[in-house]
Amino acid sequence: MSVGIDDISFYTSNFYLDLKSLADVQNIDAEKYYQGIGQEKMGIVGADEDVVTMAAAAALPLLERCERSQIDTLMFATETGVDQSKAAGVFVHGLLDLPNRCRVVELKQACYSATAAIQMACAIVARDPRRKVLVLASDIARYDLASSGEATQGCGAVAVLIGANPKLVEIAPESGRYTEDVMDFWRPNYRSTALVDGKYSTKIYLTALKQAYSDYLEQGGAEFDQLDYLCYHLPFSRMAEKAQTQLSRYTHSERDKEALDAMVMPTLNYNRIIGNSYTASIYIGLASLLDNPELELSGQRVGFFSYGSGCVSEFFSGTVMPGYRDYLHTDKHQAMLQARTELSYTEYLKFYNFECPADGGDHRMPEQTKGPFRLEAINQHKRVYSAR
Ligand code: CAA
Repeated sequence: MSVGIDDISFYTSNFYLDLKSLADVQNIDAEKYYQGIGQEKMGIVGADEDVVTMAAAAALPLLERCERSQIDTLMFATETGVDQSKAAGVFVHGLLDLPNRCRVVELKQACYSATAAIQMACAIVARDPRRKVLVLASDIARYDLASSGEATQGCGAVAVLIGANPKLVEIAPESGRYTEDVMDFWRPNYRSTALVDGKYSTKIYLTALKQAYSDYLEQGGAEFDQLDYLCYHLPFSRMAEKAQTQLSRYTHSERDKEALDAMVMPTLNYNRIIGNSYTASIYIGLASLLDNPELELSGQRVGFFSYGSGCVSEFFSGTVMPGYRDYLHTDKHQAMLQARTELSYTEYLKFYNFECPADGGDHRMPEQTKGPFRLEAINQHKRVYSAR
């Protein structure tokens, strides 16, 4: 029996800022963002959107094909939780009308926790192949205005259904890990924006890549030149290019630059126009690869490098299943991205500066999202969600 990804779909907000608008205000060349960090646009949430509404929207298409009663567990990976106690996934459980006997839990370790969720989900399914586990990863990347991280903001959610004999990607059991207590990126409970030591964070990312990959090899994983594609964690898409150069040198790969680029470029298309979505970004990268109409991926082996600052990282691989194309949500993804609204810089500032009321009164949220779910109100500190 094989275990892996049976279905995948993602969602991002209807609003975005083109990084040229940011560059113009900063009086710098937009190519620093377009080429230098490899990002074109960043998704910006409306006042009535959060990680719950995005995750529920990402999961909706999966429920067209999977009986709700089959979903045994919902794991919600996020760095942008909405409550210190209640798991964000419980709100999604309600919005999606999942069975009461479905267990729900939230996992946190910066951008890494979706991978922990997927590995745990595989173990649950291996123990009982009748079970399916819904893994949701949803985040809003927010940095201070005028900080080095501002251009690497974004938002998005991905829903990944893990099951036996999967239709999309079989996940191999070998995985390599690397954990080290470092302060490269963090967000204390009292802050709504992340703090980051930008250059140091990219250095630690690359160190963790080498270490996790070498552990993966020790655990019996595939040689670099046996991998056909690589999905890296994508804080910004140039990071994947840096990672690919690092790993190919470290493994003494015989591939030339063109072949190395071809392993990674198809994974970047969505993230380039969504921005960083922390936990979701690596799996939105997988969706970008699978949705590519020019590639026939059946039987191709994909490596995954998941990185969460702080830091925990993991390298593993999967094989794309024959017939995978029949089960994708490509058209929905494309339509959603094309229907987005561009914000001016002034509108972006207005969205950015919106603060959720915290005074315990009854507050209706401004109607902004065109997505299937919205945060309707915050009444006496209780979040009220609804379907649109
Ligand atoms: N045309 C083309 N390229 C240009 C350019 C122009 N006009 N101007 C500058 N560039 C290039 C630079 O040469 C540089 O390229 P290299 O990286 O190849 O040297 C690139 O654009 C970026 O320029 P800077 O290094 O000057 O950019 P910066 O200092 O303003 O910020 C950053 C870069 C530190 C990554 C910043 O975006 C940041 O702090 N981001 C947030 C932290 C982050 O994402 N870290 C990633 C690892 S941690 C992680 O992965 C977890 C997570 O999700 C946060």
